[in-house]
Amino acid sequence: MATRASTFSRGTLRKRIGELQCLYGIASVAAMPGATLEEQASRIVELLPGAFRDHRRAFARITHGGREYVSGTPFPDAFILSADITDDGERVGSVEIGYRDAPAEPDICGPEALLLNAVAERLGGIVERRRSRDQLQTMKRKAVEFKALDRMKTNLLATVSHELRTPLTTIKGYTTMMLDYHAKLAPEEIRDCLEAVDAATDRLRRLVDNLLETSRLEAGMLKLDKRPGDLRELVEGVAAEARLRSARHDIAARVAADARKVEMDERRIRQVLDNLVENAIKYSPDGGTIQIAARRNDGGVEVSVSDEGPGIPPQELAHVFKRMYRLARAPRKPGADGLGLGLSICQRIVKAHGGTIRAANRETGGAVITFTLPCRADGRKKPRRAKEAGA
Ligand SMILES: Nc1ncnc2c1ncn2[C@@H]1O[C@H](COP(=O)(O)OP(=O)(O)OP(=O)(O)O)[C@@H](O)[C@H]1O
Ligand SMILES: [Mg+2]
Repeated sequence: MATRASTFSRGTLRKRIGELQCLYGIASVAAMPGATLEEQASRIVELLPGAFRDHRRAFARITHGGREYVSGTPFPDAFILSADITDDGERVGSVEIGYRDAPAEPDICGPEALLLNAVAERLGGIVERRRSRDQLQTMKRKAVEFKALDRMKTNLLATVSHELRTPLTTIKGYTTMMLDYHAKLAPEEIRDCLEAVDAATDRLRRLVDNLLETSRLEAGMLKLDKRPGDLRELVEGVAAEARLRSARHDIAARVAADARKVEMDERRIRQVLDNLVENAIKYSPDGGTIQIAARRNDGGVEVSVSDEGPGIPPQELAHVFKRMYRLARAPRKPGADGLGLGLSICQRIVKAHGGTIRAANRETGGAVITFTLPCRADGRKKPRRAKEAGA
């Protein structure tokens, strides 16, 4: 009897030690800094069977977040003890112990279930802490993003005000002068004043247009109205208007015969060409040639606008399409103001057409911006329907 009692207490003692070791192990895993929830669950599931009766015949399983962590080999007819993992009172998973053969003792569900509940509670604590930490990190990230956004808004306002002020000052200056001295000004002087006001108004309109366009594009409001169009007519129209704007440049247009027919949103492609030609005028010296050229390439047409200006430093070529990006040390002519929006607008429009845009420098000097527009491979018109054809 004494032997049986000491055998029993030795067995119970071993089991209690196993339980304690397991709980201690779980507590250490729970406190592991930097470990992911997946890593913690994988380690805990390995520790679990050690705390249970006859662990050689047991397997453990933790289910959480759509994943399952298992130690040992689960078998279909196992005797399963299960406890819920809860987070803020909600069931978010379970922890289970399965035995190959149900142990004979009738009290199996009592102490073992208590232990399992303690483990589930521990796991719930880990999940809850993790969630709070994730929420805190998200809030911190959002705060940083808001700060950056706020800074950007302040910068944007400062740049916009500065850029708008320049042409406004010109308009105000010349109109005040004409009002004050109109009786003393010669007709040609009045004409000069009016030309300056006209040019400043154009600049102002383009700045405001680009600003509005950017906010429309940011809001995802770019809807293309693509139809078959005549690229030659479009390019010649852009060149003719640009000649009126800058008599100081030689503006040439050349569209190959096989590149005329293009499926495009004409208004938008005109906007792209206007921006590219405007840049060429702004950033290249008076007297230079600006060439708008279009030719057929493999998948469609390729349109380029080149100038004879200083070009773009190689390390900046990829950046000029970013919103509000302007070259820091670009040689600026008077009137070469801008918000750094033109090329980013061009890129969005070209991309929406399924094309690409890139900046490069010509070997002979000057920048060349090239964009592509895809075309149907055959380039033929759609066949007419039988009724139309027969009519
Ligand atoms: N043809 C060019 N030659 C030299 N530099 C250029 C040329 N085109 C663009 N850049 C550089 O790229 C920058 C970005 O051009 P983008 O058209 O986006 O803006 P912007 O002309 O400065 O202003 P916005 O177009 O909004 O009036 C310009 O500020 C300029 O520094
Ligand atoms: Mg521009």
